[in-house]
Amino acid sequence: MTPLCRLDDIPDGSAVGALPDARGRDAVVLVRRGDRVFAWVNNCPHYDRAPLGWRKDAFLNGDGTRILCAAHGALFRIEDGICEIGPCLGQGLTPVSVIISEGTVCLAG
Ligand code: FES
Repeated sequence: MTPLCRLDDIPDGSAVGALPDARGRDAVVLVRRGDRVFAWVNNCPHYDRAPLGWRKDAFLNGDGTRILCAAHGALFRIEDGICEIGPCLGQGLTPVSVIISEGTVCLAG
């Protein structure tokens, strides 16, 4: 298992990036809802490989209810990654399987 971060490092209701690549871009977006963590590849389906955030850990809209792609404003449901509003309407983020083991969020498998 590859550890990504501690669950406590994600404030409840917030999102953080994890697994930075060689350029420092986080490959994975983690969104915490209580004891659950939803994990998505940090790529927008509108343009291949476009990152979602405009700065480190800026992945949610203003009220924290959706994942926001800062490039063109697509909004994705946190629970299933489907775009509800924006240029990639109906398309989805790519899920990442994670588990929480002893307070650490890890890649599953
Ligand atoms: S690249 Fe994400 S909405 Fe256009």
